[in-house]
Amino acid sequence: MYQAPLPKEYADLSPEEADARIEAAKRTLGNRLVILGHHYQRDGIIKHADYRGDSYKLAKDANLCPDAEFIVFCGVHFMAESADILTPDHQHVILPNMAAGCSMADMASLFQVRNCWKQIEEVLGANGPRVVPVTYINSAANLKAFVGERGGTVCTSTNAPTAVKWALEQGEKVLFFPDQHLGRNTGVKLGYDPDKDMIVWDPFQPYGGNSPERIREATFILWKGHCSVHKRFTVEQIEEARQTHPGVTVLVHPECPLEVVEAADLNGSTEYIIKQVEASPPGSVWAIGTEINLVSRLANENPDKTIFCLDPQVCPCSTMYRIHPSFLAWTLENLVAGNVVNEVIVPPKVKYFAKMALDRMLTVCA
Ligand code: 13P
Ligand code: SF4
Repeated sequence: MYQAPLPKEYADLSPEEADARIEAAKRTLGNRLVILGHHYQRDGIIKHADYRGDSYKLAKDANLCPDAEFIVFCGVHFMAESADILTPDHQHVILPNMAAGCSMADMASLFQVRNCWKQIEEVLGANGPRVVPVTYINSAANLKAFVGERGGTVCTSTNAPTAVKWALEQGEKVLFFPDQHLGRNTGVKLGYDPDKDMIVWDPFQPYGGNSPERIREATFILWKGHCSVHKRFTVEQIEEARQTHPGVTVLVHPECPLEVVEAADLNGSTEYIIKQVEASPPGSVWAIGTEINLVSRLANENPDKTIFCLDPQVCPCSTMYRIHPSFLAWTLENLVAGNVVNEVIVPPKVKYFAKMALDRMLTVCA
């Protein structure tokens, strides 16, 4: 997505000036505006958010303010698209920086997934077993539409086991994209064998790099995508944390590789991570395997607990980080001036089927 450079006036704002201008614009816009913030946003953004949440909560919360004219989504592009799909047309969904994408979502394109589907159909034959497509919410709207049109569903890290279990009640196989790790971790949670029951589909290889026999045998066809933030966590880091902090609880996001999830004590979405830490008694020690803005905020908001990131070198999600307070100030002041900038609009035909897939998730996983 292209984002024009910020006008110099905004690029040069000090943090204090940006805060003051954001708050002034919020006061002027009043109930016409709602700001949503994903847990990976920096503190300088989160403090202005009316609602914070994980992908699942924000998808539901988008509907919480039916009277708001502007939903400013401080997160990444696929989240803003989902909000646009789930809200009525009179509400404008705005992403303060259009370059805030998700590198994992970019690992699967509609062209590649269509091509994969065609090859799977060719191998399985017209009367073969039914494949149900499941897309992680971290995907473009046109992939959600692909799934909706073919009777599949969306899932998030909160509800992946429920969504995939449902998919396997509708058919014999699941094509899960774009995150192989969430797909594999979910399959294992449901009792499947990662070696025997799962194959990885590499979109750059014929048949995804698999033999036709393996495609016929596998229950899970996992897209070869990953999150570059969560891929950094390792079993060695967990062993190190256990050595240096006896009694530590290791809690990771299910976008981490299977061996990391298995070596951890707990795993779950960002909302789950927050709830676990907040519910723990004072003095608890937590090693967390997820994005650093969230881990640092948890540490600051729970000073009676020891909370640290499993990977001492971990950097923020670079795309989430593109939502800078200066962009938020620019967006809001434009709205005050009557200019709707950076609106995320999903085309009606895509919206129709993508909504079908998102609604299925919201119903199946309610
Ligand atoms: P959550 O749904 O857990 O917030 O995860 C979103 C995400 O992008 C994790 O990398
Ligand atoms: Fe995408 Fe990973 Fe960033 Fe989440 S943390 S938005 S999956 S790149």
